[in-house]
Amino acid sequence: MAILVTGGAGYIGSHTCVELLEADYEVVVVDNYYNSVPEVLNRVEKITGKKLKSYDCDIRDKEGLRKVFSENKIDAVIHFAGLKAVGESTKLPLTYYDNNISGSVVLFEIMNEFNCKKIVFSSSATVYGNNPIPYKEDMPTGDVSSPYGRTKHFIEKILEDVYASDNEWSISLLRYFNPIGAHSSGLIGEDPNGIPNNLMPYISRVAIGKLPQLTVFGGDYDTKDGTCIRDYIHVVDLAKAHLCAVAKIMDSTGCEAYNIGNGVGYSVLDIIHAFEKASGKALNYVIGDRRAGDLPAFYADAAKANTELNWHAELGIDKMCEDTWNFQTKNPDGIK
Ligand code: NAD
Ligand code: WQD
Repeated sequence: MAILVTGGAGYIGSHTCVELLEADYEVVVVDNYYNSVPEVLNRVEKITGKKLKSYDCDIRDKEGLRKVFSENKIDAVIHFAGLKAVGESTKLPLTYYDNNISGSVVLFEIMNEFNCKKIVFSSSATVYGNNPIPYKEDMPTGDVSSPYGRTKHFIEKILEDVYASDNEWSISLLRYFNPIGAHSSGLIGEDPNGIPNNLMPYISRVAIGKLPQLTVFGGDYDTKDGTCIRDYIHVVDLAKAHLCAVAKIMDSTGCEAYNIGNGVGYSVLDIIHAFEKASGKALNYVIGDRRAGDLPAFYADAAKANTELNWHAELGIDKMCEDTWNFQTKNPDGIK
């Protein structure tokens, strides 16, 4: 069976390609390498000892996608390609709407044209906005604070409409919580350009000496230690969730959302201390002001994914930190 992976050279996409190849799927990657490098795919092949096929193609390029679907009999799509920086999206909303929403519409049109109606979409816990915790799939969504978050919400709604118009579609909306960690080989991991926005890559660059100090955004929240609580999930567990979702869409139709998280909340200080243990280094950090837009705490109720996808997170925060540190020390200057 052949799976098209859009954004397959990215952080989550590359880990998912590893799991797909190891499970003997044929993998076809489409990526424009806006936020990744082709070398990642060589490393995926090195880890698995298997080959994949790749196209340097933007998902907004209809002719380019038509070529991909003409040259390959695609059974299902896992759609990761997108821009994901929350702060940047507030400054460049049109860029985000064009890349994420227009790109997705072009992809869905081409899928329809080639009668490929099975898709797993990378959504985000951000669609829940300010709901009570833990988040459950049947809560209202869309009250989101950033253009990035709105792109995820809108694409979910577009896919719901696509299914409503044609019940042959089979759609899985995976709402990721906070993915961290890396493949245990240390060959692939999260490798953001410039100064990281997210907690784990920032911590890891401070630990390796590339950045001087971590600022913890707020120490006065109403949480156990005053810092924000999030549901961190190992990227390999997350990658495996995609295989469970593919299995599900292959033998059913519908449009269903699933939370992909551990169901456990950890504070920023919990993560710092776990990272110190994993790296054997004391981390230089200060408690600073709150970051605008941060919610105090959220985590998943993952029961639906547990029962309907038969997926369970297996790896805890110690392993998430060990694997991040292993990747960082093996790739101090990132992947070139
Ligand atoms: P990433 O930036 O590492 O990977 C995205 C990949 O898509 C990159 O390789 C990039 O070059 C490619 N891409 C972007 N726009 C493209 C386009 N128009 N055409 C072709 N390729 C394009 O990001 P990631 O962390 O792996 O995230 C993957 C998906 O999961 C994204 O849709 C993201 O919004 C979503 N998501 C990520 C997180 C997270 O915290 N990492 C959480 C929730 C959801
Ligand atoms: C985690 C915690 C920060 C950096 C984002 C997106 C979300 C999803 C996942 C895509 C927060 C704190 C961070 C730092 C800090 N992505 N922090 N110092 O904001 O929970 O979620 O990524 O869909 O949509 O919003 O993740 O890693 O940025 O922050 O103290 O330098 O770490 O305040 O509590 P976030 P994050």
